[in-house]
Amino acid sequence: MSHPASDITSVLKEGRVFSPSSEFSQNAHIKSFAEYEEIYNRAANDPEGFWSEIAKELEWFSPWEKVLDWQLPFAKWFVGGKLNISHNCLDRHLKTWRKNKAAIIWEGEPGESRILTYQALHREVCRFANALKAHGIEKGDRVAIYMPMIPELAIAMLACARIGATHSVVFGGFSANALKDRINDAQAKAVITADGGYRRGQELPLKPAVDEALEDCPTIKQVFVYRRTNNQFITMKEGRDHWWHDVVANVSDHCEAEQLDSEHPLFILYTSGTTGKPKGILHTTGGYSVSTYITTKWVFDLKEEDTYWCTADIGWVTGHSYIVYGPLSNGATSLMYEGAPNWPYPDRFWNLIDKYQVNIFYTAPTAIRAFIKWGEEWPKRHSLASLRLLGTVGEPINPEAWMWYHKLIGKEKCPIVDTWWQTETGAIMITPLPGATPTVPGSATRPFPGIIMDVVTKKGESVPDNVGGYLVIKKPWPSMLRTIYGDDERYKQQYWSEIPGCYFAGDGARRDERGYFWIMGRVDDVLNVSGHRLSTMEIESALVSHPAVAEAAAVGRPDPLKGEAVAVFVTLEGGRKGSEDLKQELREHVAKEIGALAKPDDIRFTDALPKTRSGKIMRRLLREIAAGSETIGDTTTLEDISILAKLREDEE
Ligand code: WT7
Repeated sequence: MSHPASDITSVLKEGRVFSPSSEFSQNAHIKSFAEYEEIYNRAANDPEGFWSEIAKELEWFSPWEKVLDWQLPFAKWFVGGKLNISHNCLDRHLKTWRKNKAAIIWEGEPGESRILTYQALHREVCRFANALKAHGIEKGDRVAIYMPMIPELAIAMLACARIGATHSVVFGGFSANALKDRINDAQAKAVITADGGYRRGQELPLKPAVDEALEDCPTIKQVFVYRRTNNQFITMKEGRDHWWHDVVANVSDHCEAEQLDSEHPLFILYTSGTTGKPKGILHTTGGYSVSTYITTKWVFDLKEEDTYWCTADIGWVTGHSYIVYGPLSNGATSLMYEGAPNWPYPDRFWNLIDKYQVNIFYTAPTAIRAFIKWGEEWPKRHSLASLRLLGTVGEPINPEAWMWYHKLIGKEKCPIVDTWWQTETGAIMITPLPGATPTVPGSATRPFPGIIMDVVTKKGESVPDNVGGYLVIKKPWPSMLRTIYGDDERYKQQYWSEIPGCYFAGDGARRDERGYFWIMGRVDDVLNVSGHRLSTMEIESALVSHPAVAEAAAVGRPDPLKGEAVAVFVTLEGGRKGSEDLKQELREHVAKEIGALAKPDDIRFTDALPKTRSGKIMRRLLREIAAGSETIGDTTTLEDISILAKLREDEE
């Protein structure tokens, strides 16, 4: 870990302030900054009181006896309460006029469209839940889900939640190998998948990767396969594999939601950490339900008539919280799109916004930078008049991208909510409330009510305004991760040991005189590539598993499109020579080990890696070389200074 205070020289001087229109504010859930501050202060003085008020907006089978049981770093929220998130996302609405409201509007990449009302979604979830039960899946079992962006992905999650099976969604872009590791870590009993999906006009097969993974997954007993692409080359293994349409053919439409303990494990979602092994972030039922429900309502200022679209993939936490659980627990209409933003043309998103009259649009800065690159003629071909609110997530948004989003997409009338959070936090932590908070391009502004945050030194002392430090959360919150699945010790170490008494997020930040937070990026060995988290160690271990590679070091390099690109320095076995072919081979090897998203952008062969006397790879130096910047600072600890010179030469 390096101290981010040294990076503070690049502090942004951003003076532009954008306030919501009075019309927007008057109609918003939270109508003014004074109202936000009043709620924030009330919640800060009595977080448990605040969260229990919110929790009462959901339906509980039995009430909780205690709001919070906090034994640092282990939290239990709404202790003794019983509920089911699938019930809150579905059954709760069926008693109202929402029964026939669109829950999910879906468009496939080839252009087909499906609309599932709350009643229809409830029916499909019940049927699939019954099919799972009929195949021996029980409360407490772990179920891996590896699917394209189709409604059945949401149905599978809600069906698991309904019967109390813990789902572990694995992003469809991960390789067979990555899927295997995740299945084995969670000891999953079943996999839910599809023959494939569509991406950029191509069929992307999924079932073959499942078959490959399962060669080495002894805990898997059942595989459920949804037919999406009608791929004729799919093979089904007798006794293990079942077609989705077969298992739901003769089951009841009725499946009672299990009355689950508030702390019942809802899902595991793997994310990269500072070691080579991904962390299974565990979220539980009650607290996660409460936080995702209220953040969706207030941050996106949800109205009954809104069409809401979050463009993330459900394979990431953003999709879990803000395509599935948050919107559906609010009874909202959530749009889901299967494919690429530039298929068949770079205006697919704008086309979808006009076609479905989307009102709220939530996307990533990396996507916005791609739109900028593709040119303004694409959004200009569409009206986009239905939009009233925009959001971003995943990485710091550069003010240029913010202004483009504001002008070209928001037509200077839509507030932009820049939301900071993480897989671990489960829900949005720092964000403007769109009718209340004046926004400044590049700042996620203020913490959500009930969330107590600070910027501190390594010792946990608050730093003054505009001084860089570590971003921490000082009090437990309902949707916090409960542990790293199967590894309480690592959970303690990673999140609660760096800074005394606080949750350490891994980000550097500063707070300005308005109390606004400015996120400066990761301070650990985690990269943020196109809003996706990658661990340098994971990439390095993928590389050294290739027979030609002796040693590897991966670092981030600033990239105008991806935010960060992956640069790797590689030394080869026994005097092997680097070549373009070998570079290509190594890229493919990393894709096979992890997934295409981890493919290095930049591979450099070197005779040796610069190390300190104690043998630590000097990453800062490598980062500077990768970025092409001048080497600054003290290099006297370099084991062999000539290596630096050598690397520099290669640069020329
Ligand atoms: C990391 C979490 C949960 C959202 C999707 C990513 C970075 C996230 C912002 C933002 C600056 C951001 C942080 C964080 N990040 N949102 N609005 N501004 N940075 O989830 O994969 O768990 O990654 O993404 O570095 O720690 P994730």
